[in-house]
Amino acid sequence: MSEQTEFDRFAGDYETILNQSVAASGEDSRYFAEYKAAYLKRVLPPGFAGKVLDFGCGVGLLSGVLKQQMPGAQIDGFDVSRDSIERVPAVLGSQGVFTSDPAAMPHDYHLIVIANVLHHIRPADRQGVFGELAARLVPGGSLVVFEHNPSNPVTRWVVERCPFDHDAVLLPPAETCGYTRAAGLAVVRRDYIVFMPRALAWLRRLEPWISWLPAGAQYAVSARKAS
Ligand SMILES: C[S@@+](CC[C@H](N)C(=O)[O-])C[C@H]1O[C@@H](n2cnc3c(N)ncnc32)[C@H](O)[C@@H]1O
Repeated sequence: MSEQTEFDRFAGDYETILNQSVAASGEDSRYFAEYKAAYLKRVLPPGFAGKVLDFGCGVGLLSGVLKQQMPGAQIDGFDVSRDSIERVPAVLGSQGVFTSDPAAMPHDYHLIVIANVLHHIRPADRQGVFGELAARLVPGGSLVVFEHNPSNPVTRWVVERCPFDHDAVLLPPAETCGYTRAAGLAVVRRDYIVFMPRALAWLRRLEPWISWLPAGAQYAVSARKAS
């Protein structure tokens, strides 16, 4: 029997709702997906072409951009929302596995990305998710977590108004790093990201230089499994 999840309700217009929620930045959901993919390209070895799991992939917005930016990689996706998985574009499904069945996720990923998912998972369940994901990485594989930065008041303002964030419990980078280490992974980077709205786009090239500043709208934690 299929169980409805919170995001099944939003799957049909996820992108539209997200676009409305982030409109204050002057950007749309595509900008945020491309930002994350560009960040990954920057921190991964040049020409990375391994097997990638987009955990909590939703309707595949980030997965699609990852495939464009890393054409040599296989992108798989997992999400508890079946209605979201059903809306993943067929072109992604033809090159990888997109599923709501945890048993269909193998244990040979070179990279697992978890983007803006953790704040939807109950705090008591988060450590278990990190354990599951760590077990699905190959030795030397990487886990990259993107999350909202709870220290940023604009982020909190957006989350408070976003229809699918009413269950959100934001977590600071220290909490994310704690789960990561407890799962046996070594934290290799922590960067604040997404600082400038579109009106200040000319300053965006400075963002990699201020990634230490806890003022970004989001943050990224990168970790590695021992070889
Ligand atoms: C805000 S959306 C982010 C979607 C996508 N990662 C992105 O960046 O566009 C959060 C997603 O996390 C999924 N999710 C929530 N709890 C989950 C869990 N325990 N395991 C996997 N996915 C989960 C939801 O169904 C939803 O699709």
